Amino acid sequence: MSFSKSLATATTAAVAATALIIPSAAAQTVPAVESGTMDWKLKESFLSYIAKPFAKGEIHVKNGAKKVPAEGKTESFNLPVDAAKTTLDAQGNGTIALDGAIQFLAHPGLGENGGWGLDLTYNDLKVKVTGTKAEFIADYKLFGSLPGSGAPSKPTGDDVVIAEYELPQAVTPEENSTVKVTSKEGRLKQGGYDSLLAYSEDYKPEANPFTIELKFKAPKPPKTEENPGKENPGKENPGKEDPGKEDPKEGSSLSTGGLIGIVGAILALLGGIGAFVGPKLFPQFFR
Ligand code: HEM
Repeated sequence: MSFSKSLATATTAAVAATALIIPSAAAQTVPAVESGTMDWKLKESFLSYIAKPFAKGEIHVKNGAKKVPAEGKTESFNLPVDAAKTTLDAQGNGTIALDGAIQFLAHPGLGENGGWGLDLTYNDLKVKVTGTKAEFIADYKLFGSLPGSGAPSKPTGDDVVIAEYELPQAVTPEENSTVKVTSKEGRLKQGGYDSLLAYSEDYKPEANPFTIELKFKAPKPPKTEENPGKENPGKENPGKEDPGKEDPKEGSSLSTGGLIGIVGAILALLGGIGAFVGPKLFPQFFR
């Protein structure tokens, strides 16, 4: 291949790579989530069942989750938003990651080896938003079975949809402001039926509404030579008290868009040097 041809190829590649960078640069104009909280009830009737004297139940929260109210009868759960792992696009579509794990215990002495008859933990909590549809997704671990249904089962679920809700409006990011949305009444989904055993499409499938509050900051500045660092300083609440939760592997901070950008920049630089030096060193090829 002649030098001018290889220069043309390099320049074409550089232009193509530069074109690929544009969508990733545009994505950085979306205001990022700075912090937030979710108030989640799951199901009022389940919370009051756990609190009934015959159930002798207990509720334990870990890893940043709080019971509301903190003492006495639990009415809902306050779950902190994990801003670093939350991804919402300009239309408010994406996943809102939540910290916290919730464990329900009831019927002491009626379980395996005299343990709890009901031992259910939810963790790895998140809300997946698609327009005005919100899915509450979690991992769960259950020990126990309903009375009369045989030996205790130990079902588990990974990223299953516990309940689905309709939102009155999309969770559209707004720079430097707080967006608060209260869902309509939801419906339990398969993960909810499988983890709570007693409910079905025909028996109490309702899930109480939730409220989520998200504080957005200014859009992330595009990366420059003066600002080569990570876009996000990382998780603000790194406490890992939850023994049941495995920390998902932290991925590399360099995204595909970032890699393409670096390759594009190198090719563009080589193309530029070639275009400048080429005619001087090899004038015969550039006539
Ligand atoms: C020794 C084991 C258990 C006993 C004796 C037991 C007993 C009961 C009783 C008597 C009720 C009716 C409560 C009422 O209507 O006021 C009930 C409801 C219920 N139980 Fe259990 N149960 C056991 C295990 C479990 C397990 C392992 C689960 C799974 C999470 C579970 C989930 C439920 C649910 C979701 C309800 C319906 C609560 C509502 O009214 O919304 N139970 N249970």
